[in-house]
Amino acid sequence: MTQPVSQAQLALPGVATETAVEFVWTEETGEESGVSGFVHETVMRAEVTAALAPTEGVYVDATVGGGGHSEAILEAHPGARLIGFDRDDTALAAAKARLAKFGDRVTLVKTPFGAIVDALSSLGVTAVSGVCADLGVSSPQLDDAARGMSFRREGPLDMRMDPSQGETALELIARVTDDELADIIFEYGEERRSRRIARSVKRALADNQLETTLDLRRAIVRAVGPVRVGGVDPATRTFQALRIAVNHELDQLENLLAALPDVVAVGGVAAILSFHSLEDRLVKRAFQDKSTWQPLTKKPLVATDEEATSNPRARSAKLRAARRIEGGPREVSR
Ligand SMILES: C[S@@+](CC[C@H](N)C(=O)[O-])C[C@H]1O[C@@H](n2cnc3c(N)ncnc32)[C@H](O)[C@@H]1O
Repeated sequence: MTQPVSQAQLALPGVATETAVEFVWTEETGEESGVSGFVHETVMRAEVTAALAPTEGVYVDATVGGGGHSEAILEAHPGARLIGFDRDDTALAAAKARLAKFGDRVTLVKTPFGAIVDALSSLGVTAVSGVCADLGVSSPQLDDAARGMSFRREGPLDMRMDPSQGETALELIARVTDDELADIIFEYGEERRSRRIARSVKRALADNQLETTLDLRRAIVRAVGPVRVGGVDPATRTFQALRIAVNHELDQLENLLAALPDVVAVGGVAAILSFHSLEDRLVKRAFQDKSTWQPLTKKPLVATDEEATSNPRARSAKLRAARRIEGGPREVSR
């Protein structure tokens, strides 16, 4: 659900501009919380901006996070306007602070990007010049133990990007059967030891030994053994799988990709940064539709060695971009 948009005064094409722009996202509590501590190093900032090549027009940052890509888009052209989506109040608060210098060129909306069509139409916007998305979670989401996303920090088994909605990881584990849990771990974590892990996790739940992230990690280690020297932590894939399931991440991405031909104007660009093969596969397939998209990246772009060295999160990043080429009467909004 997009919220709250009714009182928005937006300096966007076709929308009344006589009053000062207000941020659509107005969560009071978020304003004070964690803004100064929100540190997320933006991945492939220059490459995403170059793909969008901002001019005068409206751009959507579907995953505004700390506002890094949004800032780059707004800096790239003084006539660029930006609508930023996120479903995390802390991210929106951080983006609001960082992007305040751009005044009425920015509108922030609390919404899942899978609802991009409804969110834009609530703002009176039909087609935009570009959309970018930087998928997955931010560093602050991972680092905040209370979010329950990291197996390195003890926290509740939550994992929701928007803690005000939906079921937690613990509720999900309790609801599904052993086989369903194994399927989730196999499919979203690409973890071949999924059955063993699922049985162990369910046993921990039945024994009242599954409350925190570290309890979950212990159950995984009981199933598959401890970390191998030089190997990835045995909990990595299961945590990824549960986070994807809790947040419906692939459904969200599929909805976004399906909507892009309707919201990106002819001549406009979509640029998507993905961080694992499940996401990249979906993006690749969507941009293969030659009646709609002209690929701007033959192969996905990856981070430079320099960036990958300084920012470990950039190592798995893949950027695909495509230009909307035809279909319907859309014109780039100015
Ligand atoms: C990697 S961070 C973005 C960082 C941002 N590009 C920057 O440079 O600061 C991803 C953000 O997307 C948000 N997010 C993930 N999935 C989302 C979805 N389906 N709808 C809206 N926001 C989402 C997360 O809450 C997170 O804040």
